[in-house]
Amino acid sequence: MNALSDNAIEILRENDRGTYTVPTKGLYPFQWNWDSCLTALGQRHFDEARAWTEIETLMAHQWPCGMVPHIVFHKPDDGYFPGPDVWATGRPVPTSGITQPAVAGFALRRLFDLAKDRTAAETRVRALLPKVAAWHRWFFATRDPAGEGLVAIVHPWESGRDNSIDWDEAFDRVPTEGVSPYTRRDTQHANPAHRPTKEQYDRYLWLVEHFRSLNWETSRLHDASPFRVVDPGFNGILLRACADLADLADHLGEVEIAAENRHFADRGLAALEGLWSDKDGQYLCKDRVTGTLVQSQSIGGLLAAFAAIPQDRAARIAQTIDSHATRFRVASHLPSDPRFDAKRYWRGPVWLVVNYMVADGLARAGQADAADAITASSLDLIRESGFAEYYDPNTGEPLGGGRFTWTAAMVLEFLSMER
Ligand code: GLC
Repeated sequence: MNALSDNAIEILRENDRGTYTVPTKGLYPFQWNWDSCLTALGQRHFDEARAWTEIETLMAHQWPCGMVPHIVFHKPDDGYFPGPDVWATGRPVPTSGITQPAVAGFALRRLFDLAKDRTAAETRVRALLPKVAAWHRWFFATRDPAGEGLVAIVHPWESGRDNSIDWDEAFDRVPTEGVSPYTRRDTQHANPAHRPTKEQYDRYLWLVEHFRSLNWETSRLHDASPFRVVDPGFNGILLRACADLADLADHLGEVEIAAENRHFADRGLAALEGLWSDKDGQYLCKDRVTGTLVQSQSIGGLLAAFAAIPQDRAARIAQTIDSHATRFRVASHLPSDPRFDAKRYWRGPVWLVVNYMVADGLARAGQADAADAITASSLDLIRESGFAEYYDPNTGEPLGGGRFTWTAAMVLEFLSMER
């Protein structure tokens, strides 16, 4: 064991609340959806049973319609806003009413494939498989009502890339009038200059209040939202999860789940081609309200490589990443764009979770050098700057929350992939 992995394990243990792990103390005191699935991949390195539990706890709070919420508020905590009273989703254990990137299917397959305890893995994955399948079914039924093959997000928080430049234009359509007065908590834990702005927060809240007025009927939110964006990163994760779930289902003899998820993956991959921009060397978001591509070169369009995109696309994406020429890879937005902001959350900083998924996808598409460069850069960054939430891609300055769970989990994964 080297010191880096010891530190990572210590952080994962410190943020462990028994059956779920908080992203970091203070700033995020509950269970977050994609954080947990990626955290399990770190936990498997020192406690396989605990890793399964992390995902089981998340899936235990799935809604009857199939949606898996983005936050589970296991215990009251005033340190975070908006809390359960704002969401008011009426769930037995309070949750938010929107979702997050569907990494669970990928995480299940990885946990299963690499599990040392084969018997336990088979029992646990069998119980989780239909739940993740129901979530995927929910996605295509409610977020792709016209059957285009790709799903839309209805709130920027669903993307996991809260304040990305990708959302700016579509977000302008979201009103701010009538939002109930509120006090932010995030800016009390982290530097306000590195966080989303007040105007963005008003719009985040307007959408929450709007969906609440629809009684959180998830089948109504898509058409009722003034914000509907098809994010290549979000879809890339979902399509990868569908393909992985199909393979798992085949292995377990669950033929219907296998066929359904293979169909989602194949149809989605074909539709994803409609988001490719040759000029930009990456995929772009599509605004489903206006039907146009969004001219914003963010990490979302590189993260699509997590799915089985064509090899020539993956090669172009590797070149695009090289062209960023920042000291650390991968900036969450094109550095030469005047809107790039090296310190503000998802508008420029490096995030280890996306590095991990981009590297994994590129490696699978035959771009081993590009994948290795991301792995090496990620580990250099941690050695220099510790386990932060995100980092300035030019200086490596650690930003946001400290002793961050998913960063620690990804370090354990990167160390095991290092060649
Ligand atoms: C922020 C991130 C989101 C993450 C959450 C908890 O909201 O943007 O992706 O899930 O923090 O870490």
